Formats: sequence, structure tokens, C-alpha cells
Amino acid sequence: MDKLEIHGGIPLTGEIRIAGAKNSALPIMASTLLTKDTVKVSNLPHLYDITTMLELLGCMGVESIVGEKLGVEICSEPIKHFNAPYELVKTMRASILVLGPMLAHYGQAQVALPGGCAIGSRPVNLHLTALKKMGADIVVENGYIEAKINGRLKGAHIFMDLVTVTGTENVMMAASLADGVTIIENAAREPEVVDLARCLRAMGAEIKGEGSDTITINGVKRLHGCEYSVMPDRIETGTYLIAVAATRGKIKVKDTRPSILEAVLSKLEEAGAQIEIGEDWISLDMKGKRPQAVSLTTAPYPAFPTDMQAQFTALNAVAEGSGTITETVFENRFMHVHEMIRMGADMKVEGNTVMVNGKQSLKGAPVMATDLRASASLIIAGLVAESQTTVDRIYHIDRGYECIEEKLQLLGAKIKRLPS
Ligand code: EPZ
Repeated sequence: MDKLEIHGGIPLTGEIRIAGAKNSALPIMASTLLTKDTVKVSNLPHLYDITTMLELLGCMGVESIVGEKLGVEICSEPIKHFNAPYELVKTMRASILVLGPMLAHYGQAQVALPGGCAIGSRPVNLHLTALKKMGADIVVENGYIEAKINGRLKGAHIFMDLVTVTGTENVMMAASLADGVTIIENAAREPEVVDLARCLRAMGAEIKGEGSDTITINGVKRLHGCEYSVMPDRIETGTYLIAVAATRGKIKVKDTRPSILEAVLSKLEEAGAQIEIGEDWISLDMKGKRPQAVSLTTAPYPAFPTDMQAQFTALNAVAEGSGTITETVFENRFMHVHEMIRMGADMKVEGNTVMVNGKQSLKGAPVMATDLRASASLIIAGLVAESQTTVDRIYHIDRGYECIEEKLQLLGAKIKRLPS
């Protein structure tokens, strides 16, 4: 397994460009199952998860032509079967996103039930409850979701017990081809849900209210192809801003969207960062100062995103003062804490909160990544630590961060990949 070797203590400075959003690209790629026409998707990030989604669609017979800069043309017309196999689903939970569109367009779907992962059990019960309410016949047996519908799904009034991003996306896609109107209450408001809605509208879907907690979809008989460019990745953006803040550096992040990062930018300002924003860029300058500790609680958008909790824990580890970080979305998203303690961090988990007492610096050590965002936080810890840190199991990081060592090297980091 590849490792990353980092020599920390260098303030990061420079400019980088942000890639397309993984968590928008994945549902948009799944939505191509809603039409037999070709859908052209551009600004896709170079990530393992994108390749896995292309592999998943391909194994069912869907045709994809990858162009330059990872634009891809996807056509589901040649689809041969409707089975999303466990071998692929187990590597990427977001495979569940093919369920709604496949069921709505082809009347059937067999999707391996995603298992839990490092950050929690992550059930999909709300996806299935909603699709059943739309008339689907769904049985879960032998580790597979067997779904079918004679004719079209029916529009329904659906109240989501919990805010679920991919649950909202699955229902929105299924409802686009249903007979009648579907109202999703307590819908996820994430920008990636909005991006998917915009792509579906470009395919001819009739959707209103995306970005609010109530989304109304008037089902149509068929959807057509379109060309769509994926939004910038707000989590990648925030991760680099936090890394530069932790190392007391200065950065300009380009090809991004400041308006969807308000909760993160305000916490960075609280930590002492000087922030300037433009139409598609953000600059951050610590003026060489040590960050101040902050306290935060994660929650669904527009509150502070759970996908940036681990990164802020790393920032607090070397900040001035103490801060508490509370995780309310997932039940086990503190795996990085124990690894940071091995680097000398002064932090303690109590329930769903980690109390952090900032230290002047950390000590480099061999650490192990457990999930995508925890990996990013350990890299940040390595960038601020004295001497050398090696991060193992970085296949996690390659799922969600495009060319991470190259981008960090552009910012002056001493980081290199050690092949296994
Ligand atoms: C999406 O996951 C993202 N993934 C996650 O990003 C992100 O952390 C998460 O939303 C929260 O923002 C993609 O978009 C591909 P949820 P998702 O359904 O949709 C519970 C990353 O690092 N729940 O919003 O799977 C669930 O257990 C990844 O890029 C149910 O109980 O998350 C969790 O506690 C990690 N039943 C909460 O809801 C359900 O049927 C929110 O989960 C569905 C969810």
C-alpha cells in the first residue's frame, strides 16, 4: 500500500486550482441512467471514486467515452443488466445512487446493500422507505436490494426522518420520471444536491425548491441528454485553506465557489485568518501567526460540514487555546484523534465531542489513515509536525483528493509518495 512521507514545519504558500466536486459528480454520473440519450459531463475530478462509478456503469453495459481533462460522455442506451455488484459497491457506498434512476427508468434494479464504513453504520433505510412510498416493490435479501416496479413510479409526499444527502438525491432522480408530483420534506440542502437538480433540469426534469428543505418534482415521461459541468469541490477547497491556516501560511485558491463555504470561512476568520473572496477565488493569509483555537458543531448544510471536522481538529491541535469539536452527523468520525495523540496532540474524546488543547507543535510519527477525511487531517498534522510523518493506507485519500501531493508540493510542502 502506498504511503505519503511528509517533513513538516514549513508554512505553505502559493496558489492552487480546485477540481470538480466528487460528491456532485457521483450523483450526476448516476443520473445518466435516467435517459437513453448521451449525457456529457465535464470538470470531473481525477479520483478513484469517479473511476469506480464509471466501472460500475460499465459493468452493467453503459457506454462511457472519456475525453480530455476527464470530460466524459455517458450513454445508458446499451445497458445489458441492472445489477450493481457487491465487489464494486463495497469499495464505494455512493454506488447506492444508481438505485433510484435505474428503478425509475428501467423498472428494476439489484444493488448490493452497502456495508458500514469506518465513520458509521450508514444505513440506507430512508432511501428504501421513500422508494417504497413511490410504489416500488423492494426486498432486501442475500445482501442485495431487489427493487422493481410495473410501469412508472408514482409521485408521493415524502418526509425524510433524517437529513440524508444521497437519500434526497436518489428520491429526486427517481421522482423525475415518476407519474405525478413528489414532494420531499426535510430534504438535504447541500450544494451538491442543488448541482444535481440543475443537471436534471438540463435533462428536462421539472424540479423546484432545491437548496431548501422542501423539493417538489413534477415527473415527466422521458428525459433527454445534456451537457453539464460539475461544480467546484467545496471540501477540497476547505481542506487546503485549513492546511495553510494550520501551517501559518498564505494561499489563493482558484476555480472555487466562496458562497457555499460560509460556515467554514467564518470559522477560519475566528481562528485568525485574513480572508478575501472574489467570484471564483478565495485568499487566506495567516500573517505568519499561530491560529487561535475554535469550537464548532457539525450539522447538515448550511451548518459546519462534517466532511471538514477532522481537518479542523488538526488545526486545533496546534492552535493557541482550547476548542471543542462536536460531531452530530456520523457516530464514529473521530478515528483520526487517536493517531494525532500519537503525534503528541493533547485531545480527548467525550461522547461525540473532542476537547482539544492546542500545542505549539506536534511530533512527526508513522500514522494510519482510516477514512477519506481522516486521511486529510493526518496529512495536515504531518505538515505542521516537526520532523517526519508517514501516512499509511492512503488509498483512502486518493478517493477524494486529486493529485494531493502535487498540489501540496506547489504550496512548498515537503511531501512525497512512497510506493509500497
Ligand atoms: C454524503 O453521504 C456524502 N457522500 C458524505 O461525504 C457526507 O459526509 C454526508 O453526505 C453528510 O454530508 C456523498 O455525497 C457521496 P447521509 P451520505 O445520508 O449521503 C444517516 C465524503 O467524505 N442515514 O447524509 O451517505 C447516516 O447514517 C463523504 O466525501 C440513515 O440513518 O450521508 C448519517 O448518520 C463521507 N439512513 C446521516 O443520516 C439513511 O437511509 C447523514 O447521512 C441515510 C442516512
